[in-house]
Amino acid sequence: MIKFENVTKKYGDLTVVDNLTLEVDKGNLVALIGASGCGKTTTLKMVNRIIEPTSGNIFVNEENILRQDPVQLRRGIGYVIQQIGLFPNMTIAENITVVGKLLSWNKAHSRERAEELLHMVEMDPALYMNRYPNELSGGQQQRIGVLRALATDPEIILMDEPFGALDPITREQLQNEFINLQTRLHKTILFVTHDMDEAIKMADSIVLMRDGKIVQAAAAEEMLRNPADDYVASFIGMDRRLRSPDEVLVEEIMIPDPVTIESSRGLAEAQERMRKRRVDSLMVVDQNGVLVGIITIKDIQRNMAKGSRISDIVNSAPTFVLEGASVREAVYAMSQEGIGYLPVVDDKQRLKGLITRSSLVSVLSDVLWNSPDNGVENPEKEAVEGESR
Ligand SMILES: Nc1ncnc2c1ncn2[C@@H]1O[C@H](COP(=O)(O)OP(=O)(O)O)[C@@H](O)[C@H]1O
Ligand SMILES: [Mg+2]
Repeated sequence: MIKFENVTKKYGDLTVVDNLTLEVDKGNLVALIGASGCGKTTTLKMVNRIIEPTSGNIFVNEENILRQDPVQLRRGIGYVIQQIGLFPNMTIAENITVVGKLLSWNKAHSRERAEELLHMVEMDPALYMNRYPNELSGGQQQRIGVLRALATDPEIILMDEPFGALDPITREQLQNEFINLQTRLHKTILFVTHDMDEAIKMADSIVLMRDGKIVQAAAAEEMLRNPADDYVASFIGMDRRLRSPDEVLVEEIMIPDPVTIESSRGLAEAQERMRKRRVDSLMVVDQNGVLVGIITIKDIQRNMAKGSRISDIVNSAPTFVLEGASVREAVYAMSQEGIGYLPVVDDKQRLKGLITRSSLVSVLSDVLWNSPDNGVENPEKEAVEGESR
C-alpha cells in the first residue's frame, strides 16, 4: 500500500501539493485526476523520491520512504511514463529486463522473463525479442514500457498518463489489456490521468485534485452520483451526463482528428506514420478526406512482403456513423458489429472523428443507473436483443 500523510510540496512561495492525505490500498488502482498543473505528477514522483516533499510523510508498505535508500526504494516500484523512455540501441528483450540486469539476473532468466511478459500482451517473443524500439509501432512501444515496469514483479506501480500520447483506438486497446493484466496481478497502482473517461474505466477510486488539494476522493460511481461541488460536477461533465443517449449527439463526444493516411500511399509509409504518431491503426481516407477504411499494424505486418499499397489491403466497407447521429445509435452500431470504435463522418462520408467505448462510458453510466425514470431503456440490452432479430 501507499500512504500520504499531510504531504506538502513547495517551490519557494508556491505550494504545488497542499497537505495531501491519501491512501492506496494493496491491490487497488487509484486514479489521480485534475487539470494540468494541479500537482498530479509532483504527487506521483514523491513516491519514488524523484521529488522530495517539503513536509509530511509517505509510507510504502508501512515503511517511511524518507528513511529508505532511494535507489533501493525505486527497485521495488514500477514506473511507467507517457514518453516511454525505451533505450533505442537495446533490443526489446534487453529493454524489458534492464532492471533485472541491475539485480544481476543471468541471461537465461532474463530471456525467460522477457518471453513470459511478451506473452502476457500477446506479442510473439520470436517476432519481437530481438527487434529495436524504432521497429515497433507507438502502441507496441508503450506496451513494452508497461512490461518493463512489471519485469521485477514490483508490488507498487506508478503510472503517469501512460496512454496519454496514444491515439484513441490504441489507447482503448492498451487500457483494456492493462485492466486484464491488473485483474490477474493485483498490483497497488497510483495512476495519473487528466481523462475522466479513463479514470472511470480503470480506477477502483478516483482522487480529483485542484491547486494541490484533494477536492473529492471516491469510487467513480459515487463521484458521478454525488459530486462534492460544482467544480467536480463540471469536471466530470454533469451537464452532458444528465441527458439521455438519444439527446447527446455523436459529434459532441467524438474524438476529433484521428490519425489518417491516404489510400494511395504505401504500406511502409503507413508503418512509419504509425511509429511516429504512436498509434496501432490508421483511418484510411481518399484525397477528399472521405473515409475508406481502417488499417492496423497487424494488417501491415501481414502484407508487408507483398509490397502493396494501402488501397490493396484495406477493408473497403467500414462501419461508420453520421456526426448528427445520437449516442444511442452509435452504441447500437458498435454492438451490432462487435467493434470497439466507430468512425464518425459527415453527409459526404468525410471523416470527422472517432467514437471509442471509453468515450461512451461516462455518457452511458448515468443512464444505466437511472433507467427507470428517465424514459430510456438499458441501451445495451436493446442492442443485444437487436442482434438476435
Ligand atoms: N521544479 C519546479 N519548480 C517550480 N514549480 C514547479 C516545478 N515543478 C513543477 N512546478 C509547478 O508545480 C505545479 C504542479 O506541477 P505538476 O505536478 O507537474 O502538475 P500536473 O502533473 O498535475 O500537470 C505546476 O504549477 C508546475 O508549474
Ligand atoms: Mg503531469
